[in-house]
Amino acid sequence: MLQVAVLISGRGSNMKAILCSLADKEIPAEVAVVISNNPDAGGLDIAREFGVKTHVISSRGFDGTRCEYDMQIIKALKHNGITPSNGLVCLAGFMRILGTEFIREYKNRIINIHPSLLPAFPGLEAQRQAIEYGAKYSGCTVHFVDSGMDTGPIIVQAAVAVDKDDTQESLSRKILEQEHKIYPRAIRLLAEGRVRITGRRTTIQSHE
Ligand code: GRF
Repeated sequence: MLQVAVLISGRGSNMKAILCSLADKEIPAEVAVVISNNPDAGGLDIAREFGVKTHVISSRGFDGTRCEYDMQIIKALKHNGITPSNGLVCLAGFMRILGTEFIREYKNRIINIHPSLLPAFPGLEAQRQAIEYGAKYSGCTVHFVDSGMDTGPIIVQAAVAVDKDDTQESLSRKILEQEHKIYPRAIRLLAEGRVRITGRRTTIQSHE
C-alpha cells in the first residue's frame, strides 16, 4: 500500500479530492498525514474531518535555513511511514520551494499539481499568465518535482478552453475542476506501479 503525505498551505481542495478518491479502497494508497506550513490553512480542518492525521510545521517566523526546515518535514514524513522507498509526497498548493537535498532524497517520490499546461506558464498565477498571453487553451499538469520551477517529468495533463470572456477567476474555477480529477488519477497510476520514467518522459503501462 503506497503511503501518501499531502503537503498544503491553504484551502486544500486538491487534498480533499485526493482524500475522497482514496476513500474508495480500490486504489492501493492511503494518506498517512497531511502536513501544512501554515497553521491557519483551511485544508487542515478538512483533513481532520476525514480523520486524517495533521501536522503543522510553521514556516512563519522559522529562523533556520531552507535545509533545516526541509529536515523537519522529512522527519515528519519518516515518522509517519513515508520513506523514499515506499512513500509518495503530494504537493497540493504547498507554497514553499523544496531544497535540493529533500528532492534528491525523495527522487521521483514527490509530485505537484500546477494550474497550466506545462511547460507553458510555470510559477505563480499561471491562470493570469495564460489569459494575459492570449492562450486559447490552458489546463493543469501533475508532474514529478525536480530542482527546477515546475520542470519535472509530466505524469497527467488536462486541457480547458480559454474563452474570450474568461477572467482569472473563471479560468481558475474551470482548471480547478480538472485538477480534482487528474490529481487522484496520477496517484492511482503511481500506486498501481504503472508510471515509467525515461529521461524526462513518462509512459503509462496499461493494466496486465
Ligand atoms: C491549485 O490551483 C494548484 O494547482 C496550485 O495551488 C492551488 C491549490 O489549491 N498548485 P487547493 O489548496 O488545492 O484548493
